Amino acid sequence: MTIDLSHSPDVVIPQVDADAPIQFFDLTAQQKLVREKIEKRFTTILDHGRHIGGPEVDELEQKLAQATGAVDAVAVGSGTQALVMPLIALGYGHGDAVFIPGFTYNATANAVLLAGATPVFVDIDPKTFNMCHIDLERKIKAVKARRDLTASAIMPVDLYGLPADYDTIQGIADMYKLRVIADGAQAFGGKQNGKWVGAIAEITGTSFYPTKTLGGYGDGGAILTTDTEIADVLRSIRWHGTDNQRKLSVRVGINGRCDSIQCAVVSEKLAIFGAERTRRLAIAKIYDERLKGVVPLQEAQAGAENGYGLYTIRVENRDAVRAALQEEGIPTAVYYDTPLHKMQAFATYAPVDGLAACEKAANESLSIPMHPYLSDAQANRVCDVLVKHLQ
Ligand SMILES: Cc1ncc(COP(=O)(O)O)c(C=O)c1O
Repeated sequence: MTIDLSHSPDVVIPQVDADAPIQFFDLTAQQKLVREKIEKRFTTILDHGRHIGGPEVDELEQKLAQATGAVDAVAVGSGTQALVMPLIALGYGHGDAVFIPGFTYNATANAVLLAGATPVFVDIDPKTFNMCHIDLERKIKAVKARRDLTASAIMPVDLYGLPADYDTIQGIADMYKLRVIADGAQAFGGKQNGKWVGAIAEITGTSFYPTKTLGGYGDGGAILTTDTEIADVLRSIRWHGTDNQRKLSVRVGINGRCDSIQCAVVSEKLAIFGAERTRRLAIAKIYDERLKGVVPLQEAQAGAENGYGLYTIRVENRDAVRAALQEEGIPTAVYYDTPLHKMQAFATYAPVDGLAACEKAANESLSIPMHPYLSDAQANRVCDVLVKHLQ
């Protein structure tokens, strides 16, 4: 079956009333659409018994590549592994600088450090919340002037589902001879210049954490790539760095596998992804129309389409607004209230002049409910309550 990420014509997503309780994410509603098929898949897997490396792994990898237009996909155990493994595959470690935004989930920095490389924090563009290319170039030049570090790779993050500005970032990477490994953990279903996340950058790591746009029932992830050679290396790294017989170690590797069961779950979620994405876009349109000019919204650069893993606004008196929304039954979340360079684990790598836009975003960002099972009426209720408390 061919997967179309833009629509799944046979899938009907129900619309609930405005006064139905609003969830921040709603995996229970989603489960009703997929449960029967997933239960059948579990039975099949229990019968064939290939819990690791079963046919479901190849099936998912083929579907992911076909759906995104990537040349190959490698299913792995988590989104974090999907970032660490490409760094290992490209040979990055001690002495290599990897440029990452300072405003992201801690996994981005962890991945760099677990590979043995050094994270260099880059500020964000306040409009997109993604890596600022001006600060990126400044930081690359600063590293080039050092003797202890080699400027090696850029790991942009597609925050909240919006692809980073890959056109500009790839241009900088080419100019300074750096590789680009995209952290697309939050952005499956996002696009840039008509290309899906997974086929934009040379290598993209994504996550199947249950609340992601393409989530499993447990941990999982995938590396999508436009390069077949690296895919073979990644498959070896995923299996302890072994050869084709999975016996002798030919390189250092890890257990980076995705279970057959998890691959089957994600395959079934892929089948409804198009319909879910359509709903995410419809809700975002309501939010955009009702909130534009009321609060600052995340703005996409030309050619980019947000996959809307999250819908995030900026509110100056965020904590008070959040509490008022909670009182009225509107759940919200903050991603993230602390930029990475302010966290104990990464403080050593904090730039001396700070990261002003990351720090401001950490004080103001507020994510409002965004999931495919939110109805238009509920989205309008979110806006009614929000607008009332913003005045
Ligand atoms: C931006 C980003 N990168 C990486 C990850 C790591 O993914 P996982 O939790 O599947 O390891 C996440 C997960 O939340 C994320 O949001």
